[in-house]
Parts: sequence; structure tokens; C-alpha cells
Amino acid sequence: MKAIRIHAFGGPDALSYEEVPTPTIQANEVLVRNKAAGINPIDWKTCSGGGAASFIGKLPFVPGWEFSGVVELAGAAVEDFKPGDEVFGFIRFPEAAGCYAEYVAAPVSQIAHKPANMLFSTAAGLGLAGLTAWQALFDKGQLSSGQRVLVLAAAGGVGHLAVQLAKAAGAHVTGSASAANHAYLQSLGCDEVIDYQTQEVGKSAQNMDLVIDGMGGDTGIEALACLKPGGRIVTLPSVTADAVIRAAEADGKQALGIRVEPNGEQLAELAKRYTEGSLQLTLAAEVPLAEARSAHQQSASGHVRGKLVLTI
Ligand SMILES: NC(=O)c1ccc[n+]([C@@H]2O[C@H](COP(=O)([O-])OP(=O)(O)OC[C@H]3O[C@@H](n4cnc5c(N)ncnc54)[C@H](OP(=O)(O)O)[C@@H]3O)[C@@H](O)[C@H]2O)c1
Repeated sequence: MKAIRIHAFGGPDALSYEEVPTPTIQANEVLVRNKAAGINPIDWKTCSGGGAASFIGKLPFVPGWEFSGVVELAGAAVEDFKPGDEVFGFIRFPEAAGCYAEYVAAPVSQIAHKPANMLFSTAAGLGLAGLTAWQALFDKGQLSSGQRVLVLAAAGGVGHLAVQLAKAAGAHVTGSASAANHAYLQSLGCDEVIDYQTQEVGKSAQNMDLVIDGMGGDTGIEALACLKPGGRIVTLPSVTADAVIRAAEADGKQALGIRVEPNGEQLAELAKRYTEGSLQLTLAAEVPLAEARSAHQQSASGHVRGKLVLTI
């Protein structure tokens, strides 16, 4: 089958479109004829030797942790999925999952049925960012109705889903983005918007119960000033999580890091929200698998609205 592989860690040029062996499946897995794979910042961070690189083991490595496609073969112990089923998933993270490929072997506890009204490309982008948003808001953030939430990088992959999920949970939602994204954030449900290019985040939002920090580093530290007493920040970029947590502790604030976990039940809940119409996914662009280098360049620019996906 065709796939994207890297043979050495590096920038986009390290991505090579080539022939690789088709994966085999275990009893509790399905083989999926893949239609699309989602792109996330962790992909290019890992390919360049950061991110999840320490979990990858020996190179070569086929990147990608999320996908959507059609079940071709089901393992002997699989009950809920059969050949022909349309599925999507976020799998094996942080170990190698091989989703930038024509076929993917997926553990069934980490996939869900794709809603009939959802495109494969849309479903492929939902897993990693959707579960991050869900786990940050509800599992780590303990968000409840009536609370005030600030989402930093609200127009990005995680942020645009977090805004919608927080709004649906009955929260008052503030989002940060450049001015060009403000009308978009309001269309997603943001009650208030901050222009990070002209406003200081720490002075522009106050009395927050929860900050979902999609930026980390100095921006995350600045956002500690937005928390009300007893509020908490969930900081997403792992490379700066310790710095944000240390700054929060010094300031008497609660801060938590996160590592998104595969979860088929939560994927099914996201799919249900999509079917019901309360959750949308914005596709920034669909890029052919063979042109994955260009998709990594776009993602690394830091200004994608919604999700980029590779089509297969
Ligand atoms: N720990 C975990 O498990 C986990 C899971 C998922 C993601 N993450 C991390 O979380 C971060 C966000 O992920 P993502 O997929 O949402 O990223 P993304 O899609 O690449 O985010 C892009 C967005 O960031 C916005 N942005 C850029 N600079 C900004 C600033 N200074 N203030 C506010 N917004 C700004 C851009 O809006 P404008 O175009 O308007 O500037 C753009 O819409 C990444 O570092 C990612 O690696 C961690």
C-alpha cells in the first residue's frame, strides 16, 4: 500500500510518499481501508524529533493518529464492527499508529461508527482534537453549566471544538484569536472574543472558572491572571506545561497538563453531537496524501482555522 513515512526525524522534507507493507490485525482490531487522515501539530512536532518521538521506537515511522474509512476485515474477537462499516478513530497515541496510509489497523475500543451525514474527511479530523477538547473541558476541567470559560487559540483544531462543546454545556465562552477569526468564533458560539494581537489576554478576560490553554508558554502564564479564585487552567502544549504549572503554583492557582487519550465511547458521543447538529468541524483544507509535506508546512504556520486533513 501507499503511505507517508519518515526514515529520519526532520522537517517536511523528511516525509516520503512510498510503498510500505499493509498492516496486519489482532483479534480485537479491524483493518480499515482508509479514506482520510487528520493532521495535528503533534504530527510535525513528532516527525521533527519532538512531540511523541520518544514513544515511536525504531524508524521508519508512518505518522498520523486519526483517520476515517471503511472496515475491510474484522478480527476474530470483534463484535460491534463488520466489513463495510464506516468508522473513524484516534488510535494508539502516543505510540505509532500509521494513519497516513491507505490501510490502518485499529483497536476497536478506540474507534466509533461514522455518522452517515458526515464526510470521511470531516470524521478524520474529529478524533484527536475532539477528544482533547472533551477531556480538557470535562475530565480535567470539570466544567459545569453557568461557568465562565476562556479558550486560547479558539479558532484552531482543538479550540473550535472546545468552544462549541463548552457552549453546549451551558458555559459563558470567551475565545482568543486574531481579528480575522472573530466573526468565525462568534458563529461557533463565543460570547466574547479577544484579539491577542492588540489586547493583553491577562487584562482582557476576568473571573474565569476555566482556561483551556491552546498556546502554552508565556501566553498560558499570562492567562493565569484571568482565573477567579478556585479556577483552573488546563494547558495543552506539553513542552511548556511544566512552566505553566510552576507559575500557577507560585500564584496559588490550579493548573493541569493533559495527554489526550484514545476513547471510543467519547468518540461516539462526539459523533452523536455531530448527527444532532450541535457540533461542527471546520475543514481548513483537504490535501492529497502524497502532498503531506505541504499539509505539515500549513499546520506549522500556527494559523490553521479548524482542521487540515489528508485525503486518500
Ligand atoms: N497535550 C495534548 O494531549 C494535546 C492535544 C492536542 C493538542 N495539543 C497542543 O495544543 C496546541 C493547540 O492545538 P491545535 O491542534 O488546536 O493547534 P492549531 O490548530 O494549529 O491552532 C491554530 C490556531 O492557533 C491560533 N493562534 C495562533 N497564535 C495565537 C495566539 N497567540 N493567541 C491565540 N490564538 C492563536 C490561530 O488563530 P489565528 O489564525 O487567528 O492567529 C489558529 O486558528 C498545540 O500546541 C498542540 O500540540 C496538545
